[in-house]
This record gives sequence, C-alpha cells and structure tokens, in this order.
Amino acid sequence: MFQTLAWDEKNKILKLLDQRLLPHQVVYKKYRRASQVARAINKMVVRGAPAIGITGAFGLTLEALHFSSGGFSSGDGSSSLDFWHTMNNAYQEIVSSRPTAVNLSWALNRLWKNAETAVSPREVAEQWEKESLALLQEDINTNKKIGENGAALLNPGCRILTHCNAGALATAGWGTALGIARTAHQQGKVEMVYAGETRPYLQGARLTAFELLSDGIPVTLFTDNSAGHLMQKGLVDAVIVGADRIAFNGDTANKIGTYSLAILANYHQVPFYAAAPLSTVDPETENGDSITIEERDASEVTHLGGQRIAPGQATACNPSFDVTPARLVSGIITEKGVIKYPGTPGEFIDS
Ligand code: MRU
Repeated sequence: MFQTLAWDEKNKILKLLDQRLLPHQVVYKKYRRASQVARAINKMVVRGAPAIGITGAFGLTLEALHFSSGGFSSGDGSSSLDFWHTMNNAYQEIVSSRPTAVNLSWALNRLWKNAETAVSPREVAEQWEKESLALLQEDINTNKKIGENGAALLNPGCRILTHCNAGALATAGWGTALGIARTAHQQGKVEMVYAGETRPYLQGARLTAFELLSDGIPVTLFTDNSAGHLMQKGLVDAVIVGADRIAFNGDTANKIGTYSLAILANYHQVPFYAAAPLSTVDPETENGDSITIEERDASEVTHLGGQRIAPGQATACNPSFDVTPARLVSGIITEKGVIKYPGTPGEFIDS
C-alpha cells in the first residue's frame, strides 16, 4: 500500500505523493509553506476528503514553523499579532483551496482550538505538529474500524461496486470505501470490486485500479455509463462509496455520479452505502442544499490527457461533486457503527 502523505520530522518537510502522475510514475513532492500546500490541494496533487484535511493541517503547521524560526522579513517573528495575522491568512488560503469536503475546515479548526493554551509561536508550531501527526494516525485507525464495520455487512462472494477513489490514496492509509473492500478481502469475502472510471478526472481508472491491483484485490474497471447495465445483470451485491460532506439530515456529497449510482442501486434493490469517518458529518450543514459544489475547469471535460476531444467552440460544465439524498442511502458506515436515516433525520442504529 502506498503512503499518500508523509511528514519528515527531522527536516520539517511535508511529502506528498503526486497523484496526478499515477499510475505511471510514483513521485513524492516536498512542501515547506502553506501556500504551496494550498496549491497542491487545489491542483489535485493530493485529493480525497480525509487526505486533504490532514494535508491542510500540515500546511498550517509548516507556516507556524516557518514563522517561529524567524522566516518572515516583516516583524521579528516574536509579535503575537503578526503571528496570528499570518496564520489566519494561511488558514484562509488552505480552507478555500477546495470547497466541498468538510474535512479541510474540520482538521484546521482542530489545530486552531489546540493552540488556545500555547504562549508563543514556537509553542503553537510544536503543538500543531503533534496534532497533525495525531490526525494522521487517527485517520488510519478510524479507517480500519470503518473497514471492520463495513465488512460485517457483506456476505462471502460479494461483488462491490465503487466510484472515484476512497482508498488509501484518499486518506492517511487503508481507505474508507476501499478500506471496507480491503478488510472484506482479508476475510476472504470479496469476489470482485467493480471500479467506475470516474470521468472526467479518472480517479477510478488511474487510482482505484492501481491501488487494488497493488494489494492483489480483484478489480474490474467499467465506464461510468455501464453501472445500470451491471446492476441489471445482477453483478453487483453492494455499492460502497466515500463521502466529502454529510449534512445533518444525512444528505451525502461525494464525487459527481454518486447520485446517479444511488438511484440505480435503489431501483435494482442493491444496498447503497457511504463510508466515512464521523468527522465528515457536518452538524452545521442542515441539508444537501447548503453544500457548496466545487465547479472545476471545463478543460477537464473538453480535454483528455492534454488532448482536446471536444470541438473548440464546445462549452462544458464540470461539477466535481453531487448530493445523494439521505433517503437513498442504506447506511453510512462510520468508525462507531452504521447510521441509518430511514426518512427520520438523525436516527442512529448501531451495527
Ligand atoms: O475530487 P476528489 O478526487 O478529491 O474526490 C474524492 C471523492 O469524491 C471521495 O469519494 C471522497 O473524498 C472520500 S475519500 C475517502
């Protein structure tokens, strides 16, 4: 299993696996400042809700370390006002790098609160480094629990359909939706994982296929528009996807195309699960209508691998996520159990 992000404790550098180059090249890039990290998130060097949250936390840590080592020419590095002004700018830059996943603000806010007792920039930087490392380790532990809770819902010989990449590459390790496939595979339960290619950015074709093959888990790629056909042929026992933000009423934002899969799954009476840490549930967001959907550059649709595939005059829309209403979700698989919203927002049923 590949490491998505790594912290070099000795040199205080963040290393990110450049996912834009996968599956052809495995290249780690080094980051020392918050603005570089924000750009890396926006440009998809790192992606996936939990992974960008942890990356953002390290981005803020890097800025605090830079400030407290006297790396700023304005101010002497000791003024508390200068420090918090700089940290606030870094926070805003990182949090706005991608708008849909709640994990980014969740992780940054955890750092912010953690600094309340620190007395100097140096102390804040040290606390943030520890907290970022804790976030990284917690995410792996959480994913393992999601894996166990999800695998318990599957029968031997299970054929799972997934979308985008909600695996080790989208988290600190193990993965959420793919973490369930990993655990179920260890238990000998997985016959096949069907991975949708996930137009336009092809996270399924480039990342999910790569990640599952590396771990020896059987995977079959399909074009996104084949999902209904596969379900109609009885080839899918469960749909399991990740999530970027889950509203208080259970409406679930995830990669564009997830909503269509949920409708198909419901029509074919195939269980449709979203797998996510509880931190993805955002109590501040009442329902799916209030979730900001990132609109990415139209060139991702009009071009493929740098080559134009649409006529020059063609306009294109490129919403990166959609919202699946809670009533279409059979269960949200978390580290604490399975949340079900059978029309009654907030009802909690342990797995
Ligand atoms: O645009 P991406 O690649 O960041 O989108 C990723 C997804 O939609 C994932 O399903 C989601 O972030 C959950 S990852 C555990």
